[in-house]
Amino acid sequence: MAKARETKKDDQRIIKIFDTTLRDGEQAPGNSMNIEEKLRLAKQLQKLNVDVIEAGFPIASDGDFEAVKKVAQTIKGPEIAGLCRSSEKDIDRAWEALKYAGEKGRIHTFIATSDIHMKYKLQMEPGKVLASAVKAVKRAASYTPNVEFSCEDAVRTRLPFLAEVVEAVIEAGATTVNIPDTVGYTIPFEYFNIIKYLKDNVPNIEKAVISVHCHNDLGLSVANSVAAIQAGAGQVECTINGIGERAGNCSLEEFVMILKTRRDILPFVTNVVTEQLTPASRLLTNITGIAVQPNKSVVGANAFAHEAGIHQHGMLMEKTTYEIMTPESVGLLSSALVLGKHSGRHAFKKRLEELGHELDETRLNRAFDRFKELADLKKEVFDEDLDAIVSEEAREEDHYKLEHITVTCGSFAVATATVQMEINGVTVRTAELGDGPVDSAFKAIKKLTKSKAKLTQYNVGSITGGTDAQGEVTVRVSEGNHSVVGKGSSTDIIVASAKAYIHALNRLSCKQKRLIEAV
Ligand code: KIV
Ligand code: ZN
Repeated sequence: MAKARETKKDDQRIIKIFDTTLRDGEQAPGNSMNIEEKLRLAKQLQKLNVDVIEAGFPIASDGDFEAVKKVAQTIKGPEIAGLCRSSEKDIDRAWEALKYAGEKGRIHTFIATSDIHMKYKLQMEPGKVLASAVKAVKRAASYTPNVEFSCEDAVRTRLPFLAEVVEAVIEAGATTVNIPDTVGYTIPFEYFNIIKYLKDNVPNIEKAVISVHCHNDLGLSVANSVAAIQAGAGQVECTINGIGERAGNCSLEEFVMILKTRRDILPFVTNVVTEQLTPASRLLTNITGIAVQPNKSVVGANAFAHEAGIHQHGMLMEKTTYEIMTPESVGLLSSALVLGKHSGRHAFKKRLEELGHELDETRLNRAFDRFKELADLKKEVFDEDLDAIVSEEAREEDHYKLEHITVTCGSFAVATATVQMEINGVTVRTAELGDGPVDSAFKAIKKLTKSKAKLTQYNVGSITGGTDAQGEVTVRVSEGNHSVVGKGSSTDIIVASAKAYIHALNRLSCKQKRLIEAV
């Protein structure tokens, strides 16, 4: 795929893209990823050429620590950041994981600076918060010169105090200072003025890059980030598909495409290879099982679909009548139909690479076998079918595996499912009755796995059009405080349902195992 790296002109400023999909993004319900999934996404972020990857919060759990360490060991190019509170223990643990990135490792430490957070959450006086911030930055700087400090809830912080903290942490060695809108409260005009205030009132501000980190509670995270760079910010923190705490974070693809599309009035460029945006969005969706809304800007299924006749007519005459950016520029490949049953391994592998998927030899072989099976059932295999195959084959070794499922059902039958699974290397089988085929299948799986998890969501859709399309099932299961999503696909929707349910149970058991290990 062609790379369209922007060339910077003299009057343009490069804005650093700090991707926090693996940290703030992963904190959102249902978006948690295991180490292998984080690494896959990190490799795609490397292709996207983001400047910084925030890989996790190392002290939060052993799983998070291992993920940051693995990303730091593997990824070449972007800097790798790890989050930590302003305590020695947190900072030391973060560096233990980040040190593998060498000079590309960045310690990102934070403490809240707003009155409301200091009083109720930290129960600390402002002077003590300031001292903790300085101490934390000095400790981090003893490991690396690459230190970022965040004033949590900066937007609701008294401006003179914010300026005091920013000046002090820069003096202590912070090379990036982040001014987050932690609760998604600000509006563009106000945020512009906050950044401008710091530029005008912090004497050493030029010694650090000002970063911005906007949440989307009022739907303004992208607009606020644009306003901030106009006021002088040099780094934007964002996530793929805008995932993140609550309503999410600034969407990377939207922010980057605004700069690219409105070069006429915005004198900024990023290093992002925009053709990798769609593969990144799809990969994340495949990993988490959470689809983006169809009308989502840039990466939604309808973002480039022109339905109205008058629009289609205009497009045929001249594309720019209704198209402000091309699908190709965001990596949406025009030929959706890709392969059929005569396609060979080489073509299959090449297409996967174009779609941003990299599989090791064993997984590639398994995926190719599944592709052949699918091509026998379906005349045409589309990109979306390949995404679904890869998302199943790229998963970690599963604890629970589906071997066979047979369901009898109909208007005059009591639905009965017979399910055979492999659990911890042992083959087990049972049959259950239920209210319909899915219910009976899930009851049988529940019995075999002895799971106590509750099914809280079940959705079925089709991956492409046509009656031979693969059904794609997404389920959510919850147990205690944990909630995970599972996905499965097949031309038979009962098989897809069983796969999705088992996928969710596998993810839940991994998550529970990681938490037990962390205690
Ligand atoms: O939203 C926020 O304030 C954060 C910080 C930890 C950077 O995520
Ligand atoms: Zn955040």
